[in-house]
Amino acid sequence: MKTELKGYLEEKRGFVDGELARLLPRRGAYPPELHEALHYAVFSGGKRLRAILVLATAEAIAGRLPDGSSEAACAIECVHNYSLVHDDLPCMDADELRRGRPTVWKKYGEATAVLVGDALLTVAFQILALGATREVELSDRLLLCCQELAAAAGSFGMVGGQAVDVAHEGKEIDPTMLNYIHRLKTGALIRCACRMGAVLARADNALLVAASRYGEHLGLAFQIADDLLNVTGDEARLGKSVGSDEKRGKNTFPKIHGLAKSREMAAQHMEEAHAEANRLPEPEALVALARFVIERDH
Ligand code: IPE
Ligand code: IPE
Ligand code: MG
Ligand code: MG
Repeated sequence: MKTELKGYLEEKRGFVDGELARLLPRRGAYPPELHEALHYAVFSGGKRLRAILVLATAEAIAGRLPDGSSEAACAIECVHNYSLVHDDLPCMDADELRRGRPTVWKKYGEATAVLVGDALLTVAFQILALGATREVELSDRLLLCCQELAAAAGSFGMVGGQAVDVAHEGKEIDPTMLNYIHRLKTGALIRCACRMGAVLARADNALLVAASRYGEHLGLAFQIADDLLNVTGDEARLGKSVGSDEKRGKNTFPKIHGLAKSREMAAQHMEEAHAEANRLPEPEALVALARFVIERDH
Protein backbone atom coordinates (compact mmCIF):
# COMPACT_ATOMS: atom_id res chain seq x y z
CA MET A 1 0.00 0.00 0.00
CA LYS A 2 1.32 3.47 -0.83
CA THR A 3 2.36 5.38 2.31
CA GLU A 4 0.14 8.27 1.22
CA LEU A 5 -2.98 6.07 1.20
CA LYS A 6 -1.93 4.43 4.46
CA GLY A 7 -1.79 7.83 6.16
CA TYR A 8 -5.09 8.83 4.62
CA LEU A 9 -6.81 5.65 5.83
CA GLU A 10 -5.34 5.99 9.33
CA GLU A 11 -6.45 9.59 9.64
CA LYS A 12 -9.99 8.87 8.44
CA ARG A 13 -10.26 5.76 10.59
CA GLY A 14 -9.25 7.75 13.64
CA PHE A 15 -11.90 10.35 12.84
CA VAL A 16 -14.62 7.73 12.31
CA ASP A 17 -13.71 5.89 15.52
CA GLY A 18 -13.92 9.14 17.48
CA GLU A 19 -17.31 10.00 15.99
CA LEU A 20 -18.62 6.47 16.65
CA ALA A 21 -17.50 6.73 20.29
CA ARG A 22 -19.34 10.06 20.52
CA LEU A 23 -22.57 8.92 18.87
CA LEU A 24 -22.99 5.35 20.17
CA PRO A 25 -24.26 4.40 23.65
CA ARG A 26 -21.50 4.38 26.29
CA ARG A 27 -19.84 1.06 27.08
CA GLY A 28 -21.00 0.98 30.71
CA ALA A 29 -24.61 1.98 29.92
CA TYR A 30 -27.39 -0.26 31.22
CA PRO A 31 -27.79 -3.13 30.35
CA PRO A 32 -24.01 -3.54 30.70
CA GLU A 33 -23.67 -6.95 28.99
CA LEU A 34 -25.45 -5.69 25.88
CA HIS A 35 -23.40 -2.52 25.64
CA GLU A 36 -20.15 -4.33 26.32
CA ALA A 37 -20.92 -6.73 23.47
CA LEU A 38 -21.94 -3.82 21.23
CA HIS A 39 -18.59 -2.12 21.85
CA TYR A 40 -16.79 -5.43 21.32
CA ALA A 41 -18.50 -5.70 17.94
CA VAL A 42 -17.85 -2.14 16.77
CA PHE A 43 -14.42 -1.28 18.22
CA SER A 44 -12.41 -4.25 17.03
CA GLY A 45 -10.23 -3.03 14.20
CA GLY A 46 -12.58 -2.83 11.22
CA LYS A 47 -11.27 -0.96 8.18
CA ARG A 48 -14.20 1.52 8.33
CA LEU A 49 -14.28 1.41 4.53
CA ARG A 50 -17.98 2.33 4.16
CA ALA A 51 -17.67 5.28 6.53
CA ILE A 52 -14.51 6.41 4.75
CA LEU A 53 -16.33 6.17 1.40
CA VAL A 54 -19.03 8.53 2.67
CA LEU A 55 -16.34 11.05 3.63
CA ALA A 56 -14.18 10.52 0.54
CA THR A 57 -17.11 10.84 -1.89
CA ALA A 58 -18.41 13.96 -0.17
CA GLU A 59 -14.93 15.50 -0.33
CA ALA A 60 -14.43 14.43 -3.95
CA ILE A 61 -17.49 16.48 -4.85
CA ALA A 62 -17.60 19.36 -2.34
CA GLY A 63 -13.85 19.73 -1.77
CA ARG A 64 -14.47 19.62 2.02
CA LEU A 65 -16.46 17.63 4.56
CA PRO A 66 -20.08 18.81 4.43
CA ASP A 67 -22.36 18.88 7.50
CA GLY A 68 -24.01 15.55 8.19
CA SER A 69 -20.92 13.56 7.11
CA SER A 70 -20.26 12.22 10.60
CA GLU A 71 -23.85 11.08 10.99
CA ALA A 72 -23.97 9.32 7.63
CA ALA A 73 -20.52 7.74 8.10
CA CYS A 74 -21.39 6.42 11.58
CA ALA A 75 -24.86 5.25 10.54
CA ILE A 76 -23.56 3.11 7.67
CA GLU A 77 -20.76 1.72 9.81
CA CYS A 78 -23.38 0.66 12.40
CA VAL A 79 -25.42 -1.11 9.72
CA HIS A 80 -22.29 -2.80 8.38
CA ASN A 81 -21.24 -4.00 11.84
CA TYR A 82 -24.74 -5.30 12.54
CA SER A 83 -24.60 -7.22 9.25
CA LEU A 84 -21.31 -8.84 10.25
CA VAL A 85 -22.55 -9.83 13.72
CA HIS A 86 -25.59 -11.52 12.19
CA ASP A 87 -23.62 -12.94 9.23
CA ASP A 88 -21.36 -14.85 11.65
CA LEU A 89 -24.25 -16.46 13.60
CA PRO A 90 -24.53 -20.27 13.57
CA CYS A 91 -27.75 -19.99 11.52
CA MET A 92 -25.87 -17.98 8.84
CA ASP A 93 -22.15 -18.55 8.17
CA ALA A 94 -21.36 -20.10 11.59
CA ASP A 95 -18.02 -18.28 11.79
CA GLU A 96 -16.01 -18.19 14.99
CA LEU A 97 -13.33 -15.69 14.02
CA ARG A 98 -13.71 -12.05 12.96
CA ARG A 99 -11.09 -9.28 13.03
CA GLY A 100 -8.74 -11.72 14.73
CA ARG A 101 -11.04 -12.36 17.70
CA PRO A 102 -13.91 -14.70 18.59
CA THR A 103 -17.13 -13.59 16.88
CA VAL A 104 -19.77 -11.86 19.00
CA TRP A 105 -22.00 -14.96 19.29
CA LYS A 106 -18.99 -17.08 20.23
CA LYS A 107 -18.00 -14.71 23.02
CA TYR A 108 -21.39 -13.50 24.31
CA GLY A 109 -23.89 -16.10 23.10
CA GLU A 110 -26.38 -16.09 20.25
CA ALA A 111 -29.15 -14.11 21.94
CA THR A 112 -26.78 -11.25 22.74
CA ALA A 113 -25.38 -11.32 19.20
CA VAL A 114 -28.89 -11.05 17.72
CA LEU A 115 -29.67 -8.16 20.07
CA VAL A 116 -26.39 -6.35 19.37
CA GLY A 117 -27.28 -6.49 15.67
CA ASP A 118 -30.79 -5.22 16.38
CA ALA A 119 -29.43 -2.37 18.49
CA LEU A 120 -26.85 -1.34 15.88
CA LEU A 121 -29.39 -1.31 13.07
CA THR A 122 -31.77 0.80 15.15
CA VAL A 123 -29.19 3.27 16.37
CA ALA A 124 -28.02 3.85 12.79
CA PHE A 125 -31.33 5.45 11.91
CA GLN A 126 -31.51 7.24 15.25
CA ILE A 127 -28.16 8.91 14.50
CA LEU A 128 -29.44 10.16 11.12
CA ALA A 129 -32.79 11.26 12.55
CA LEU A 130 -31.18 13.06 15.49
CA GLY A 131 -28.93 14.96 13.09
CA ALA A 132 -31.96 15.94 11.03
CA THR A 133 -33.98 17.19 14.01
CA ARG A 134 -31.06 19.12 15.53
CA GLU A 135 -30.26 21.03 12.36
CA VAL A 136 -33.29 22.04 10.32
CA GLU A 137 -31.12 23.27 7.45
CA LEU A 138 -29.69 19.74 7.10
CA SER A 139 -32.88 17.79 7.51
CA ASP A 140 -33.71 17.34 3.80
CA ARG A 141 -30.33 15.75 3.05
CA LEU A 142 -30.29 13.54 6.14
CA LEU A 143 -33.82 12.40 5.33
CA LEU A 144 -32.57 11.38 1.88
CA CYS A 145 -29.71 9.52 3.58
CA CYS A 146 -32.29 7.66 5.70
CA GLN A 147 -34.06 6.58 2.54
CA GLU A 148 -30.80 5.56 0.83
CA LEU A 149 -29.63 3.55 3.83
CA ALA A 150 -32.97 1.85 4.40
CA ALA A 151 -33.19 0.82 0.75
CA ALA A 152 -29.59 -0.45 0.67
CA ALA A 153 -29.86 -2.38 3.94
CA GLY A 154 -33.30 -3.92 3.44
CA SER A 155 -34.85 -6.81 1.54
CA PHE A 156 -34.06 -5.26 -1.87
CA GLY A 157 -30.51 -4.61 -0.71
CA MET A 158 -28.09 -6.27 1.73
CA VAL A 159 -30.69 -8.44 3.49
CA GLY A 160 -32.02 -9.65 0.13
CA GLY A 161 -28.51 -10.60 -0.96
CA GLN A 162 -27.86 -12.42 2.31
CA ALA A 163 -31.12 -14.36 1.92
CA VAL A 164 -30.18 -15.57 -1.56
CA ASP A 165 -26.58 -16.30 -0.47
CA VAL A 166 -27.74 -18.50 2.41
CA ALA A 167 -30.48 -20.19 0.36
CA HIS A 168 -27.97 -21.32 -2.28
CA GLU A 169 -25.26 -22.78 -0.08
CA GLY A 170 -24.19 -26.09 -1.57
CA LYS A 171 -26.26 -25.48 -4.72
CA GLU A 172 -25.16 -24.75 -8.26
CA ILE A 173 -25.88 -21.23 -9.47
CA ASP A 174 -25.08 -19.37 -12.67
CA PRO A 175 -22.88 -16.25 -12.96
CA THR A 176 -25.95 -13.97 -13.17
CA MET A 177 -27.21 -15.20 -9.81
CA LEU A 178 -23.71 -14.90 -8.35
CA ASN A 179 -23.55 -11.29 -9.50
CA TYR A 180 -26.96 -10.64 -7.96
CA ILE A 181 -25.81 -12.02 -4.58
CA HIS A 182 -22.59 -10.00 -4.52
CA ARG A 183 -24.19 -6.82 -5.84
CA LEU A 184 -26.75 -6.96 -3.04
CA LYS A 185 -25.11 -8.53 0.00
CA THR A 186 -21.99 -6.34 -0.21
CA GLY A 187 -22.41 -3.94 -3.12
CA ALA A 188 -25.60 -2.29 -1.89
CA LEU A 189 -24.04 -0.78 1.25
CA ILE A 190 -20.85 0.25 -0.53
CA ARG A 191 -22.83 1.98 -3.27
CA CYS A 192 -25.02 3.57 -0.60
CA ALA A 193 -21.97 5.01 1.19
CA CYS A 194 -20.98 6.80 -2.03
CA ARG A 195 -24.52 7.99 -2.70
CA MET A 196 -24.88 9.42 0.81
CA GLY A 197 -21.59 11.25 0.42
CA ALA A 198 -22.84 12.70 -2.87
CA VAL A 199 -26.21 13.70 -1.39
CA LEU A 200 -24.51 15.52 1.50
CA ALA A 201 -22.21 17.30 -0.96
CA ARG A 202 -25.32 18.53 -2.83
CA ALA A 203 -24.25 16.71 -5.99
CA ASP A 204 -26.21 17.37 -9.17
CA ASN A 205 -27.68 14.39 -10.99
CA ALA A 206 -24.64 13.68 -13.18
CA LEU A 207 -22.30 13.63 -10.17
CA LEU A 208 -24.71 11.48 -8.16
CA VAL A 209 -24.87 8.95 -11.00
CA ALA A 210 -21.06 8.85 -11.28
CA ALA A 211 -20.66 8.39 -7.51
CA SER A 212 -23.29 5.70 -7.57
CA ARG A 213 -21.65 3.79 -10.43
CA TYR A 214 -18.26 4.13 -8.77
CA GLY A 215 -19.79 2.51 -5.67
CA GLU A 216 -21.40 -0.26 -7.71
CA HIS A 217 -18.11 -1.29 -9.32
CA LEU A 218 -16.22 -0.89 -6.07
CA GLY A 219 -18.75 -3.10 -4.27
CA LEU A 220 -18.32 -5.92 -6.76
CA ALA A 221 -14.54 -5.57 -6.76
CA PHE A 222 -14.62 -5.63 -2.98
CA GLN A 223 -16.62 -8.85 -2.69
CA ILE A 224 -14.58 -10.61 -5.40
CA ALA A 225 -11.47 -9.67 -3.38
CA ASP A 226 -13.17 -10.99 -0.22
CA ASP A 227 -13.86 -14.29 -2.01
CA LEU A 228 -10.26 -14.47 -3.22
CA LEU A 229 -8.89 -13.77 0.26
CA ASN A 230 -11.01 -16.64 1.60
CA VAL A 231 -9.01 -18.93 -0.70
CA THR A 232 -5.54 -17.37 -0.83
CA GLY A 233 -5.40 -15.07 2.22
CA ASP A 234 -3.34 -15.37 5.38
CA GLU A 235 -5.62 -16.09 8.34
CA ALA A 236 -3.52 -14.09 10.82
CA ARG A 237 -3.49 -11.00 8.57
CA LEU A 238 -7.10 -11.41 7.50
CA GLY A 239 -8.47 -12.02 11.01
CA LYS A 240 -11.05 -14.42 9.53
CA SER A 241 -11.01 -18.15 8.81
CA VAL A 242 -9.56 -19.02 5.40
CA GLY A 243 -11.24 -21.81 3.42
CA SER A 244 -14.60 -21.41 5.18
CA ASP A 245 -16.47 -20.57 1.93
CA GLU A 246 -15.50 -23.88 0.34
CA LYS A 247 -16.37 -25.80 3.50
CA ARG A 248 -19.87 -24.30 3.57
CA GLY A 249 -20.41 -24.73 -0.16
CA LYS A 250 -20.66 -20.96 -0.66
CA ASN A 251 -21.04 -19.63 -4.16
CA THR A 252 -18.03 -17.44 -4.77
CA PHE A 253 -16.21 -15.92 -7.75
CA PRO A 254 -13.26 -18.33 -7.49
CA LYS A 255 -15.65 -21.29 -7.32
CA ILE A 256 -17.57 -20.27 -10.43
CA HIS A 257 -14.92 -18.46 -12.48
CA GLY A 258 -11.59 -19.75 -11.09
CA LEU A 259 -8.85 -17.67 -9.44
CA ALA A 260 -7.28 -16.07 -12.51
CA LYS A 261 -10.55 -14.96 -14.09
CA SER A 262 -11.81 -13.68 -10.72
CA ARG A 263 -8.70 -11.53 -10.33
CA GLU A 264 -9.21 -10.22 -13.85
CA MET A 265 -12.85 -9.38 -13.12
CA ALA A 266 -11.94 -7.55 -9.90
CA ALA A 267 -9.34 -5.53 -11.83
CA GLN A 268 -11.91 -4.73 -14.50
CA HIS A 269 -14.34 -3.39 -11.90
CA MET A 270 -11.52 -1.30 -10.44
CA GLU A 271 -10.89 0.22 -13.88
CA GLU A 272 -14.58 1.03 -14.27
CA ALA A 273 -14.61 2.52 -10.77
CA HIS A 274 -11.63 4.70 -11.72
CA ALA A 275 -13.41 5.94 -14.83
CA GLU A 276 -16.46 6.95 -12.79
CA ALA A 277 -14.36 8.55 -10.02
CA ASN A 278 -12.61 10.66 -12.64
CA ARG A 279 -15.92 12.34 -13.48
CA LEU A 280 -15.86 13.94 -10.00
CA PRO A 281 -14.01 17.23 -9.28
CA GLU A 282 -11.42 15.79 -6.84
CA PRO A 283 -11.15 12.04 -7.48
CA GLU A 284 -7.67 11.18 -6.09
CA ALA A 285 -8.73 9.53 -2.82
CA LEU A 286 -11.50 7.50 -4.49
CA VAL A 287 -9.07 6.31 -7.17
CA ALA A 288 -6.58 5.18 -4.50
CA LEU A 289 -9.35 3.50 -2.50
CA ALA A 290 -10.46 1.46 -5.51
CA ARG A 291 -6.94 0.15 -5.96
CA PHE A 292 -6.69 -0.63 -2.24
CA VAL A 293 -9.92 -2.65 -2.41
CA ILE A 294 -8.46 -5.19 -4.84
CA GLU A 295 -4.87 -5.15 -3.59
CA ARG A 296 -5.63 -5.43 0.14
CA ASP A 297 -4.58 -8.44 2.20
CA HIS A 298 -7.24 -7.98 4.91
C1 IPE B 1 -16.43 -7.84 5.39
O1 IPE B 1 -16.36 -6.47 5.21
C2 IPE B 1 -17.75 -8.35 4.95
C3 IPE B 1 -18.08 -8.14 3.56
C4 IPE B 1 -19.07 -7.44 3.20
C5 IPE B 1 -17.28 -8.79 2.53
P1 IPE B 1 -15.04 -5.65 5.58
O2 IPE B 1 -13.85 -6.37 5.05
O3 IPE B 1 -15.20 -4.24 5.19
O4 IPE B 1 -15.01 -5.77 7.17
P2 IPE B 1 -14.29 -4.90 8.28
O5 IPE B 1 -15.32 -3.93 8.76
O6 IPE B 1 -13.09 -4.23 7.71
O7 IPE B 1 -13.94 -5.90 9.35
C1 IPE C 1 -20.75 -10.68 4.10
O1 IPE C 1 -20.45 -11.62 3.16
C2 IPE C 1 -21.89 -9.84 3.65
C3 IPE C 1 -22.59 -9.23 4.78
C4 IPE C 1 -22.22 -9.35 6.03
C5 IPE C 1 -23.76 -8.47 4.50
P1 IPE C 1 -19.47 -12.81 3.57
O2 IPE C 1 -20.13 -13.75 4.48
O3 IPE C 1 -18.89 -13.32 2.32
O4 IPE C 1 -18.33 -11.99 4.35
P2 IPE C 1 -17.28 -12.48 5.42
O5 IPE C 1 -16.21 -13.18 4.62
O6 IPE C 1 -17.99 -13.34 6.41
O7 IPE C 1 -16.73 -11.25 6.05
MG1 MG D 1 -22.08 -14.49 4.55
MG1 MG E 1 -19.55 -14.53 6.32
